[in-house]
Amino acid sequence: MDWDRELADQRQQLELADQAHLLRFWDELNEAERAELLGDLSGCNFSEIMQFFHRAMQMPAPLEQQMDEQMEPVPREVQGSVTRDRERLPEWEAEGLLQISENKVAVLLLAGGQGTRLGVAYPKGMYNVGLLSRKTLFQIQAERILKLQQLASEQFGNKCTIPWYIMTSGRTMESTEEFFAKNSYFGLQEGNVIFFQQGMLPAMTFNGKAILEGKSKISMAPDGNGGLYRALRNQKIVEDMEKRGIGFIHVYCVDNILVKVADPTFIGFCVKQQADCGAKVVEKTNPTEAVGVVCKVNGLYQVVEYSEITLVTAQKRNADGRLTFNAGNICNHFFTLKFLKNIVKDYEPKLRHHVAQKKIPYIDDHGQHIKPDSPNGIKLEKFVFDIFQFSKKFVVFEVLREDEFSPLKNADSQNGKDTPTTARHALMSLHHRWVLNAGGNFVDENRTRIPAIPSLKELTDVPIKCEISALVSYAGEGLDKYVSGRDFQPPLIIDEKGVRELTANGL
Ligand code: UTP
Repeated sequence: MDWDRELADQRQQLELADQAHLLRFWDELNEAERAELLGDLSGCNFSEIMQFFHRAMQMPAPLEQQMDEQMEPVPREVQGSVTRDRERLPEWEAEGLLQISENKVAVLLLAGGQGTRLGVAYPKGMYNVGLLSRKTLFQIQAERILKLQQLASEQFGNKCTIPWYIMTSGRTMESTEEFFAKNSYFGLQEGNVIFFQQGMLPAMTFNGKAILEGKSKISMAPDGNGGLYRALRNQKIVEDMEKRGIGFIHVYCVDNILVKVADPTFIGFCVKQQADCGAKVVEKTNPTEAVGVVCKVNGLYQVVEYSEITLVTAQKRNADGRLTFNAGNICNHFFTLKFLKNIVKDYEPKLRHHVAQKKIPYIDDHGQHIKPDSPNGIKLEKFVFDIFQFSKKFVVFEVLREDEFSPLKNADSQNGKDTPTTARHALMSLHHRWVLNAGGNFVDENRTRIPAIPSLKELTDVPIKCEISALVSYAGEGLDKYVSGRDFQPPLIIDEKGVRELTANGL
């Protein structure tokens, strides 16, 4: 193949952007490698990328002290809470279900991350944390959507659909789509599961040179979960939502095993408050927990990372003893379509990328693959919550961590945080409580009641093995008829096939 013309074009572009080093191994490459490199290069608009780079690097890191002075907690009047507003929950739930029944609600899953910490070669949503059913995160979420459609349809008498938009990236698109097709979309209609792809950006050195991970391969990474907004525009997803008559969107991360997909109570709360943007949060109780908090900075809502504030501010408490900055962000957001349209059209291009310093494997001038021990470059990322600042009516909804938040971030290790084990235990412990609340009990092998709250002597980290399919119950409702007044010996599974005590070996 004659590469001359294409190469000359690329070289010119690269020289203009000071990136000609990307071609330094060209003469050593075979045909396939040349095609690969030109493919990578054609996916990069370097004049734009260099603008992103310079704008991001110019952004001064806020001084902790300054940040402290500008921060205000979320005022109570824009907050809803599952504990402090118990009497209003049924009203909010009914509103959410009504909106769902009228086909006005969509869910949008952020699943373009690389899952580096978990360290598996496939998308995180395909991970099976070792539940009795062996279900993956994708399947659990799909079944919650199916159940909600059913609940809303039954309550309001019209058949309804919650379209599921799934954002993937160059690294996860193909395998995600294949997985859904192979599993018949977990019972959802294929046309209502809409995949789209976020952008990728090259990893850069600190002085703005794109990094080669191989002689013919640029080190590329997805542009952060805030890449959502650009992807929504480029792939005409907002238009698709409009065509379907969607008014409200629930956006969430793939890795929270407890996520209440399209939670009607959260949606109903936001709709009733006439909010354009909302965030679900859990109470931060430990000042040093590394979680971002939702708050106001200079009068605008944003998420402030733990590393951006001083310990004094992190430890500040109100008269009631709660932390002042306690709205822990769990990447669970509500947007109206109108707000999303404005973001996509007007605001997204104004957002600067954040800079994340990383250890980026690279190939040196001698063609050696190097794995650095300390950060040698940056990745440019936008965050999904960067747009809170543009909201005209922002609300916050506080939920219970043990009911709604257990993310899968890391591989299993002794006493590890946010691992497959902690995710599995969180789900089983929630389902255990659902059974008890519905009047069921657990017994040991001698049919002796296992106390709901174990005595200190018996306290272990391992919960009773119990799993309830979302096809049976979305949030603990409707279980009385299965469990009331009955004793179960775990492992217990309740699914569309009925109630089953399993042998210790599983299904
Ligand atoms: P994380 O920031 O936890 O990243 O993503 P990750 O990719 O899952 O894991 P690490 O950091 O590489 O170990 C939070 C959520 O945002 C999504 C992820 O898929 C996850 O749902 N995400 C992240 C994207 O959709 N795109 C991105 O570019 C980054």
